[in-house]
Order: sequence, then C-alpha cells, then structure tokens
Amino acid sequence: MTLIPFPSKKISKKIVEFNINNEIVELAIRPNDLLLDVIRYKLNLTGTKRGCDMGTCGCCTVIIDDKPVLSCLTLAMQVQDKKIKTIESLQENENMHPIQECFHTEGGSQCGFCTPGFIMTSFALLKENKNPTKEEIKEAISGNMCRCTGYIKIVDSIKKASEKIRGKKSE
Ligand code: FES
Ligand code: FES
Repeated sequence: MTLIPFPSKKISKKIVEFNINNEIVELAIRPNDLLLDVIRYKLNLTGTKRGCDMGTCGCCTVIIDDKPVLSCLTLAMQVQDKKIKTIESLQENENMHPIQECFHTEGGSQCGFCTPGFIMTSFALLKENKNPTKEEIKEAISGNMCRCTGYIKIVDSIKKASEKIRGKKSE
C-alpha cells in the first residue's frame, strides 16, 4: 500500500477582526479554522459545546446576525463581518437571561451538555416569534438533540420563557 503523505506546505494565518458578544477582537486565523474551535480555544468561550462535530446534535449552536448557526460546520473566515453571539453573552450583570432561568426552574436541563445549544436556538426563535406555540417550538428545536430530558421539559421551559419575556416587556 502506498501512503500519501500530508502536504508539508504550512497554511498561513491571517489577522481577522470578529464582532463577538458585542466586542471587537482581532485573531490570527487559518482559512480552514472552524468557528467552533475559534470560539472555544482561541476565545476560551467554552459554553459552546462540541457534540457530534458533524452537524447533527445542535450543541455547537451560536447566533450569527440573529439566526442560529452550527459553529462546527462554519468556517471562522465566513463570519468575519457578522455579529456573533454565544451563550456567554446572555447573562445581564449577575442575572440569568429568562430563557436560562426557565431551563433551570422548569427542568429543561439535566446534565446540561446540550443546554447552551437549545438556549441559543430558543433565543433566535423568541426574537422572531414572541409567542410560539408548542408545535412551533418543537419545529425550531428539531435540530437540537438531548440525551437526558425527553424534550417535554425543554419545550415547557421555552414556552415559559416566552411568557416571562412578554411579561417583562409589558411591565
Ligand atoms: S457539534 Fe455541531 S452539530 Fe453537533
Ligand atoms: S440535558 Fe443532558 S444531553 Fe440534554
């Protein structure tokens, strides 16, 4: 059998500006660097999880220009001129975001590994649809997988969060 050696040519890095969690950061990036790796290993924002690494679990979901995106399937270079939001940006001062709070109070999180992905997907949903039905919630989270909760409590958590957010706005 003939072994084909890896190409020895080094891929050079480029300095790129990112807008992440409302901060502008400059990073040295290779054209093939994944957004997930940049977020976790260059920026140390470890709330975004690596699950399947192939686009099937939703654990790596972040928000890019208000839409949920799988960071394991996104090249960092592709999002250099966009607004990136990770789970770390949701907390306000010492307070949890209502979605985080409701996952906690309604039992939407058990081991917690999938939770940041669900929360970021829900964040995008509730921005677009303030009062989603349970069916709409199920549709929105259909790309996120959880091995612990059985989903009913996740849907309840998101429903409760939508009520809480609407209540807050009308106060
Ligand atoms: S790690 Fe990205 S979808 Fe599973
Ligand atoms: S809470 Fe454990 S995988 Fe979802």
